[in-house]
Amino acid sequence: MTFKKHAGPPQVFLGPLGGERRAAAFSEGRPILLTGINGQVGWELQRTLQPLGTVIALDRARFNMTDPDQIRAVLREVNPAIIVNPAAYTAVDKAESEADLATAINATAPGILAEAAKQRDALLIHYSTDYVFDGSNPIPYVESDPVCPINTYGRSKLAGEQAIQASGCRHLIFRTSWVYGLRGQNFLRTMLRLAKERDELRIVADQTGAPTWSRMIAETTALAIARHAGQQGIYHLAAAGATSWHGFASAIVEDAAERGWLEKVPAVRRIASADFPTPARRPANSRLNCDRLQHDFALRQPDWAEELRLCLDSALSIQ
Ligand SMILES: NC(=O)c1ccc[n+]([C@@H]2O[C@H](COP(=O)([O-])OP(=O)(O)OC[C@H]3O[C@@H](n4cnc5c(N)ncnc54)[C@H](OP(=O)(O)O)[C@@H]3O)[C@@H](O)[C@H]2O)c1
Repeated sequence: MTFKKHAGPPQVFLGPLGGERRAAAFSEGRPILLTGINGQVGWELQRTLQPLGTVIALDRARFNMTDPDQIRAVLREVNPAIIVNPAAYTAVDKAESEADLATAINATAPGILAEAAKQRDALLIHYSTDYVFDGSNPIPYVESDPVCPINTYGRSKLAGEQAIQASGCRHLIFRTSWVYGLRGQNFLRTMLRLAKERDELRIVADQTGAPTWSRMIAETTALAIARHAGQQGIYHLAAAGATSWHGFASAIVEDAAERGWLEKVPAVRRIASADFPTPARRPANSRLNCDRLQHDFALRQPDWAEELRLCLDSALSIQ
């Protein structure tokens, strides 16, 4: 199999954090392998990784996370210096009846990537979720808080984290939350559609978290690679601030109305999780404390509401 390479500029990076080590990591000219390129985060990563080197960007057809032989063969052929893995089974409710598939994609496959990364001394960048927690914490979760997933998706993602950590490979695991963007299935796009169709939206108000734009995750990932100087482990990566799904829906509807996208503005009513039963339970508190990321990579997390506005601005620019 041959792969289309997206050639980037020269692969030397000098910055405030450990420039010499970073340059060494790229000096062999090995590419970056990116999975899941049609997903919310994967799509954005295709662009943000470009300045960092040659990117081998693979979709499900060329890199199927349920096919260990294909995964190993591609990794042998590509021999990446960095593996970035946003591919995942993300259908939280469906996972309750497809636990084996969720586990194969979210746990077994990341374990295989980690083994390969260890063999090649590659850096593995992987994404995980706030759903590794049960949501009973009254304050934002830090990375070292005890995990206790309350649904199948959360258990499969936790098993993925554990497989990576057990492999001993160099890795960064970014736990994120409530991801949205202009592509794919997500809460923002669902609300924009429903706001046009309905007079009233009934939205859960007793779950708290930070809506996080997929573009911000991809940009932060690229910055973390550029500034990487041996940092390792789990990092929480979400927008700053917090709201409920009801608060998020209200902000979306308000913003869309101000932009003149809605002929009539629906009422956004609060409901409790108990009024909207789903196959998978969700944590009440999904807030992630991102201090470690900010400190170790000299980054600042933008506020969720500001990010939503910028995301909708970018939708406007193509209308
Ligand atoms: N979405 C959220 O709210 C959320 C919250 C917390 C954490 N996360 C984590 O953040 C990361 C990125 O999520 P996202 O929102 O970008 O996910 P997404 O939009 O659902 O995209 C997932 C990608 O994985 C690919 N994929 C699924 N099964 C595959 C398989 N068998 N082989 C290869 N690729 C496969 C999909 O391919 P197709 O396009 O072919 O279907 C899709 O491109 C994931 O690790 C996720 O667990 C997401």
